[in-house]
This record gives sequence, C-alpha cells and structure tokens, in this order.
Amino acid sequence: MIAILGAMDGEIQEFLGGLERKSEVRWTEFVFYRGLLESKEVIVAKSGVGKTLSAMVTQRIIDEFAPRAILFTGLAGAISPRLEIGDTLIAEDCIQHDLDATALGFKRGEVPFTTHRIIPCDRTLVEAASFCIPIEGKMVRGRVLTGDQFITRKDVESHRYLWDELKGDAVEMEGASVGLVATVNKVPFLLIRTISDKADSNAKVDFHTFLPRASKNSLHFVRHILRRAFA
Ligand code: ADE
Repeated sequence: MIAILGAMDGEIQEFLGGLERKSEVRWTEFVFYRGLLESKEVIVAKSGVGKTLSAMVTQRIIDEFAPRAILFTGLAGAISPRLEIGDTLIAEDCIQHDLDATALGFKRGEVPFTTHRIIPCDRTLVEAASFCIPIEGKMVRGRVLTGDQFITRKDVESHRYLWDELKGDAVEMEGASVGLVATVNKVPFLLIRTISDKADSNAKVDFHTFLPRASKNSLHFVRHILRRAFA
C-alpha cells in the first residue's frame, strides 16, 4: 500500500479519476479512497490545509494502512528566482519555516528538544522522481518551506528569512508536517510541488487559475514513481 496525499479536493481530483477498483474508508470527516493506480494498491486522501490536519491525517493513515511510502503532491508558491509558474519542485528536504523558538536559543524551524529541523525526503524516491519529464515547465530539486500562512508578500522584510536564512525554493502549508510524521514513523516520504504562484500580490489569482493544470502534473509524476520505484 502506498499513500498519496494532497491538501485540497482540487489537488487529489485527478488521482481519484485515475483510481481503479475504488472503495471508500471513512474516518470522522475524512474519506480515504482505496484502489489501484498503475496496478499498485494505493490510498488517496485529502489531508486538509495546514500543518495540524495534514499531520493528523498522516498519522491516521499510517496507523490504519501501514503504507510502504507516503507521496504528497500539490501546489507551492515560488521563493527562488529560478522557479517559474508551471515548474515542478521535487523536495530534497523541507522545514517548518514558522516554527520559531529562536528566543530560547533554538534554530529557526527546529522542533525544540528533538533532532528534527531539516526533514529529508527519501533519496530513492527523489531519484526516481527526477527521471520524470514534467508535462510543462522545468523540474528542479530543492527545499520546500512549510508554514500555516498563505504567503503573498515574500519580499517584505519579515519574510526575507525564507530565502536568505532558510534557503527555501518554495512555500506551502503541509509538506514538513506530513514529512515529520512520516520520519518519526520511519515511513519513506516524498514531496512534489507544482509552482502555482510567486508568493507575491498575484498569488491568490495565480493559485486558483493554476490548480487544475497542477493536479494533472501531480498525477503524471506519481504514475511515473509508482512504475519506477515500486515493484
Ligand atoms: N501554496 C501555493 N502557493 C502558496 C503560497 N503563496 N503560500 C503558501 N502556500 C502556497
């Protein structure tokens, strides 16, 4: 079993369309869709937006289905100038950018009193994803930053740390929380984001416009990974 997660309906829609022998498992307000994709057993689920819901759903899926891997896909806002709308970012790692206990002497993003700060994605899965040719735009490997904010002003002083300090390529709202839960449970984790906006004043419009195209790209990447990385 491989778990495929996205934050919103629009981010998992294409997966549900591609699922064969689909059945549903319900848990509170969440629905987990079971089925076959590329002849592999998968669970497709909407995690909800933000770090709390996405962490909670990830733990539930691990407890209930014991997946061999967790693949998270969706949209992100570009921080790096090398990224354009439509590009695909394969995360080599991710950080919770809004976890800030620096006043107590911890590094930005560090989960206090743990070893968790830079959360790595599974190397084998990153390699497998890197051989996929995106539907449009270019593919880049880099760092994803996760926080409970939709960023529309990356250039203001208070957001400079995203690029200057954390060296983030893009921002989104779930990757590092899902990644942290996967890491603690020792489940291989991969995070792939399609760039929908540049985390600037156009972000809201760009995000909504780009959603349908991005989910096609996510399905394209996930199909490739399922074929290439899982026997
Ligand atoms: N996901 C897509 N674009 C984003 C942005 N600008 N900020 C946070 N999450 C996003």
